[in-house]
Amino acid sequence: MGRITTLGEFIVQSQSNHPEAKGELSRLLSAIRLAAKVVNSQTNKAGLVDNIMGNVGTTNVQGEQQKKLDVYANDVFIDALQARHELCGIASEEEDDFVAFTSKECKNAKYVLLMDPLDGSSNIDVNVSIGTIFSIYQRQSPVGTVATMEDFLQKGVEQVAAGYVIYGSSTMLVYSTGNGVNGFTFDPTVGVFYLSHPNMRCPKSGKIYSINEGNYPHLPSGVRNYIKHCKELDPPTKRPYTARYIGSLVSDFHRNLIKGGIYLYPSNSLAPNGKLRLLYECNPLAFLVEDAGGKATDGRGKRILEIEPKELHQRTPFFIGSSNMVDEVEQFLEESDTRKAVEVM
Ligand code: AHG
Ligand code: MN
Ligand code: MN
Repeated sequence: MGRITTLGEFIVQSQSNHPEAKGELSRLLSAIRLAAKVVNSQTNKAGLVDNIMGNVGTTNVQGEQQKKLDVYANDVFIDALQARHELCGIASEEEDDFVAFTSKECKNAKYVLLMDPLDGSSNIDVNVSIGTIFSIYQRQSPVGTVATMEDFLQKGVEQVAAGYVIYGSSTMLVYSTGNGVNGFTFDPTVGVFYLSHPNMRCPKSGKIYSINEGNYPHLPSGVRNYIKHCKELDPPTKRPYTARYIGSLVSDFHRNLIKGGIYLYPSNSLAPNGKLRLLYECNPLAFLVEDAGGKATDGRGKRILEIEPKELHQRTPFFIGSSNMVDEVEQFLEESDTRKAVEVM
């Protein structure tokens, strides 16, 4: 058997490729690795531990009920990250506002991190895969001061690293610093992540489409037409496609990244900007998919990574996955917009 690289070794090797690096990002990634292990251990016994399962009884700023494990994961990641003194602050889907770390060491840090600490949380009680998503930027405010909103409201193209942890049939940590996407699988018997998926590439085309089709009557007509297209029989183009929707973005994304496919969360008549959050969910996954050769847009030609954020909890329509499939659905939206414009004339 060849020598297997651990995540720790990989982080050290990657740093040595950048002689100018001082190790801040490496220590940050190590803190994420530690928090992922802790959350993983609780996630694995979610069905056993009464005080972890179920609702905590409060709601977050977006009016969603917070699950106990959401709050727990949020606290674990914040504690682990703050302890390394490499961040001047974090923003989290579970926090109303950003959290500035105000110790002298943290004020001297040069990075901020944004996260969805527990993604797919409605799946916890039914033993379905969930995840954590993170995104790292260099701060904009001067080193030595307290973090400000401008540190967090940066375009996705400015990310220096992004990734996710998937707590699935096995637990994986997948991340990129912009030089390739690498996946590490956790061996719980030794407590170590091993490089299992080096240089992950998203196939250009795929056969899987992932959308909450229950929203069908509320979806834009271009997306409804695309769904019909996915179901049509046309063997030369491998249609009908396969429908797969877990309801955990991390899990749906992870599958489509590996197998090829598209994930769609469009605007709908009840939610004009869709559901997913630009800073905590869409930007980090868009950074990963582009680095893996795929594509992420708002469905109307705008790259997710180019969207100018106006507020922390901003939402955006989201189309992500194999580049040919994202292009295809955009054509359907464009055609339907053109048709409507002609009808109005
Ligand atoms: P979270 O648990 O962080 O609030 O995210 C849930 C998200 C995402 O994981 C998933 O893809 C999507 O919500 C599912 O939404 P619908 O139930 O509307 O399909
Ligand atoms: Mn989420
Ligand atoms: Mn969440």
